[in-house]
Amino acid sequence: MNPIGANEKTLDWRVETVDETSSTNDLVSARAREGEASGFVIRAISQTKGRGRRGRSWFSPPGSGLYFSALLRPGGEPGISSLLTLLLGVAAAEGLAEATSLRVGLKWPNDLRVNGKKIGGILCEYIDLPNQLPAIVAGLGINLTTREADFPPELRESASSVLLSGGRVPDAEHLLHLILERIAFWYKEYESSGFEAVREQWLGLCDNLGEMVSVRVADETFSGKNNGIDEAGRLLLEKADGSTQRITSGEVELT
Ligand code: BTN
Repeated sequence: MNPIGANEKTLDWRVETVDETSSTNDLVSARAREGEASGFVIRAISQTKGRGRRGRSWFSPPGSGLYFSALLRPGGEPGISSLLTLLLGVAAAEGLAEATSLRVGLKWPNDLRVNGKKIGGILCEYIDLPNQLPAIVAGLGINLTTREADFPPELRESASSVLLSGGRVPDAEHLLHLILERIAFWYKEYESSGFEAVREQWLGLCDNLGEMVSVRVADETFSGKNNGIDEAGRLLLEKADGSTQRITSGEVELT
């Protein structure tokens, strides 16, 4: 018998909405452990413990953003969550641009940006499960109507929302469906033909390609020119001596 989730080539989205939860990633992880198939989505109106990358929290007040997590079971090694983070970025940038008419850009590995400020982020978590295909829980948060004073002080400089960026504010549910449609499109492309088309689209959306950047990797910082991403989703950093450093995990800062 196939393990749960095997041979699922198309995504059949099933969306549940909850008023409040700690984190939609936690709810979807729990459902994955119970054997839920890929395509399962939970959206929350607010999160009390929304999580970002690197142990940060994700500000998730009621009604001012879109917060959801989707379950995917593509198979493969843990590194696949890096590829799916980039795939989700492409899908979210396209859906958000369509819904708001904003020019939405991407910053490696997981930031959605407008005019150089962060408007949304992606948190993909890989969960190894006994007797099942591993689960990827792909969480996405987008600030829709957050005002400057609503953000915690430490985020006011760097964060934005659709409202603050002057975009058309979409209905959150409508935006969710636009983004799910784009995820399904790119996921199908990825499953049938691999990462290359996603990579090219990601490069077209990256808002700091060719610029000088600093990349924080654990407690080290590397500087160089952002030359895009490779076939494994690693950042290609051109160093002063002309060599290329491939970075698997880190945080780009613009210099
Ligand atoms: C980041 O930029 O660091 C990632 C932010 C991801 C936030 C979303 S909101 C929905 C889902 N649930 C969470 O707890 N986090 C993700």
